[in-house]
Amino acid sequence: MKQSISFTLNGKSVTIEAHPMQPLLYALRDDADAVGTKYGCGEGECGACTVILNDELVMSCLVPAVQAEGARVETIEGLADANELHAVQQAFLESGGAQCGICTPGMIMAGVHHLRHPERAPGGVPEALEGNLCRCTGYTRIFTAMKRAKEILSANGTAP
Ligand code: FES
Ligand code: FES
Repeated sequence: MKQSISFTLNGKSVTIEAHPMQPLLYALRDDADAVGTKYGCGEGECGACTVILNDELVMSCLVPAVQAEGARVETIEGLADANELHAVQQAFLESGGAQCGICTPGMIMAGVHHLRHPERAPGGVPEALEGNLCRCTGYTRIFTAMKRAKEILSANGTAP
């Protein structure tokens, strides 16, 4: 049975009607109209569904929707402002870090989280992104994009 679940999605308060134990991924896509988060494997193996939940990186296919109650959820839709891409999005664009795009929203959310909390992945970008699989790029362009994102943030003097 569906129930009301209220949370903050990309800085805005939302209340959705969703089955509490259904994956947050489905609740975001089907009930909160946030379809930027992608379905890859549905089993916690690929990282395509990665979002930030209360400042923690989670695979939203593994998290019950009810865990979003009262939480702060960040998805790819919340990164850009009206006129400007987030530095990580801009860097992926410039560096060819996105090809088919299925992994890209999750990869970018993991990248943003890493730039906010580099201490959580002492091994740097490869460690930070190890839960996010990409079948297209061979990762080199993604690593280049992350380097470029740091340059953009540093040039702009902005926080990730
Ligand atoms: S869809 Fe969630 S980890 Fe693959
Ligand atoms: S761009 Fe296609 S899976 Fe990564």
